[in-house]
Amino acid sequence: METTWQREDVTTHYLKQVRGGIPYGAEQAQIMLQVVNHFVSEPQIVMDLGCGNGFLAEILLRSYPQAKAICIDHSAPMIEQAKINMEPYKNRCELYVGDFSQSIDSFARPNSVDCIVSGYAIHHLPHSMKKALYKDIYQLLKPGGIFINIEHTASATEEIERLHDELFIDHLTAYNKGDRQQIAKEYYNRPDKADNILARVDVQVNWLREIGFNHADCYFKWMELAVFGGGK
Ligand SMILES: C[S@@+](CC[C@H](N)C(=O)[O-])C[C@H]1O[C@@H](n2cnc3c(N)ncnc32)[C@H](O)[C@@H]1O
Repeated sequence: METTWQREDVTTHYLKQVRGGIPYGAEQAQIMLQVVNHFVSEPQIVMDLGCGNGFLAEILLRSYPQAKAICIDHSAPMIEQAKINMEPYKNRCELYVGDFSQSIDSFARPNSVDCIVSGYAIHHLPHSMKKALYKDIYQLLKPGGIFINIEHTASATEEIERLHDELFIDHLTAYNKGDRQQIAKEYYNRPDKADNILARVDVQVNWLREIGFNHADCYFKWMELAVFGGGK
């Protein structure tokens, strides 16, 4: 069965009208790079799970000219967009239509990846599968490697969730220079809303600690948007 993210209209809307309007998107990417740099100054192999058009992988490949990227997304239209976006890096970038709810073992050997990143993707899995994926990520990381998840997480209360939603709509309105009422209507009725299975960031950081990740922490957070991860 086709998932929401495998629809071309959903991917196009996200890439054109949402990605650039994500609050503090540039800061999140900067924190990702700063943490990666701290733990692995010269990554050779990086992996982007749910890569979309390669937004995060591109930042890593631009920053690390020696690195190669393994990018996985289960959406064929997204991988088509990634082929276009990642064209300048095509010799250093492998793009796969693949589903990380299954095992990711086939994409890399254990202890072989310096840095694994993911942007707004893992929250589509039920919690037990999130944890299983974090375990798989830990297996694939090299000792000394780092995992960074830039992620939509749950608010602590419904009131904070409502505040998050309204502030997010403000950001989307400014980015699209659009009509706030219309953008709010689209936001609350977006087709991928039901796909979001959010968990609080403190809960997820604890999962990482239980698995054995070191330095597991939330490195940056604005409302429901968090940059968290840990090392091996
Ligand atoms: C909101 S987009 C984020 C794309 C990109 N990482 C970014 O930061 O802009 C979420 C992506 O996760 C992908 N995705 C969701 N569930 C997935 C799964 N089980 N396996 C692989 N990709 C998945 C979707 O196809 C989509 O491209």
